[in-house]
Amino acid sequence: MNEAFLRACRGEATRPVPVWLMRQAGRYLPAYQEIREKVDFLTLCKTPRLAVEVSLQPVDILGVDAAIVFSDILIPVEAMGMGLEFHEGEGPVLEPPIRTERDLKGLHPIDPALDLPFVLETIRILKKELSNRVPLIGFSGAPFTLAAYMIEGGTSRSFVNTKRMMFGSPLLFFQLMELITDVTISYLRAQIRAGVQAIQIFDTWAGILTREDYDVYALPYVSRIFKALEGSGVAGIYFVYNGGHLIESMARSGADVIGLDWRIDIETAVSRLGRDVTLQGNLDPCVLFLPEEEIKARIDSVLRQGRKARAHIFNLGHGILPEIPYKKAKLMVDLIHELSA
Ligand code: CP3
Repeated sequence: MNEAFLRACRGEATRPVPVWLMRQAGRYLPAYQEIREKVDFLTLCKTPRLAVEVSLQPVDILGVDAAIVFSDILIPVEAMGMGLEFHEGEGPVLEPPIRTERDLKGLHPIDPALDLPFVLETIRILKKELSNRVPLIGFSGAPFTLAAYMIEGGTSRSFVNTKRMMFGSPLLFFQLMELITDVTISYLRAQIRAGVQAIQIFDTWAGILTREDYDVYALPYVSRIFKALEGSGVAGIYFVYNGGHLIESMARSGADVIGLDWRIDIETAVSRLGRDVTLQGNLDPCVLFLPEEEIKARIDSVLRQGRKARAHIFNLGHGILPEIPYKKAKLMVDLIHELSA
């Protein structure tokens, strides 16, 4: 098996540097679009045969060093009792938004084997199909990010409802966070039992918090998840979008790997956190719109900075965009492997 990704997770500097891409299975790949012409996104997530097929596409087409299970962070939220729809070009809609004690009572814990059997089945088939070519990453949303989606009922510009509940009805907010944390722990444990070799927790919205508020309203729940997974033998990655001001706190989460977006330089992260840390990231996805020579220079800069950390896993600073030609993504993976060999 290509072990580079798992070795880097454990803190070993590797040559070449492993790479995978957030949202690596997705609309920028023509092979993905072909399947999406026949089924909608949620059906794709819930049909193991198809979810396996799209999970394997980036491994076969790009040559990335890890596969990630095809699903979405909001799938367990639907299982907790909320209505979930994806509207073309608008992002997710969750109903009804959680704003009151009564709304909270409408939610329930989950049994992953009963409520999300398709995710576990996808993992089991993927493990067979990968036959140890590359490791398999499982994932979940972080409690704060899931709570924000649930309270807003979808994406938001200001997250006013989320902050209003945090500050105005803290007991309600903390009860919601506890429930989501319990659900996430059982969900990740089920993914691990089914065979994933690493897990990533996505905290897309925690960056809207000051560090002081992050430490109170978000971090303790992420820490509880990583604590619960200790001893599972599986590496934990923690990614916060727009989290440059939070990295010292993120490093206290118990994660083995800290995922960075592009707004903070890796060398700045190393100087603030010390060298004894594994970092993942962090090329701006839009760099792939630059001419080839410039893409190469930018990759080289990220790799050079990554060598200052104990270990480095190459990734984009956020999910790859549908507008990016997949040949540019392939070029990027090849360049990373060549330049870090
Ligand atoms: O990384 C992978 O390839 C695994 C699959 C994966 C998806 N979403 C597939 C997806 C993962 C790990 C996610 C995580 C996810 N989902 C996050 C965290 C990462 C981030 O981007 O910050 C978030 C916030 C979501 C919620 C979500 N799902 C949104 C906001 C959207 C709509 C926006 C958009 O890009 O259309 C989705 C839909 C979604 N999830 C798609 C994919 C491939 C596109 C659906 C389609 O085919 O139309």
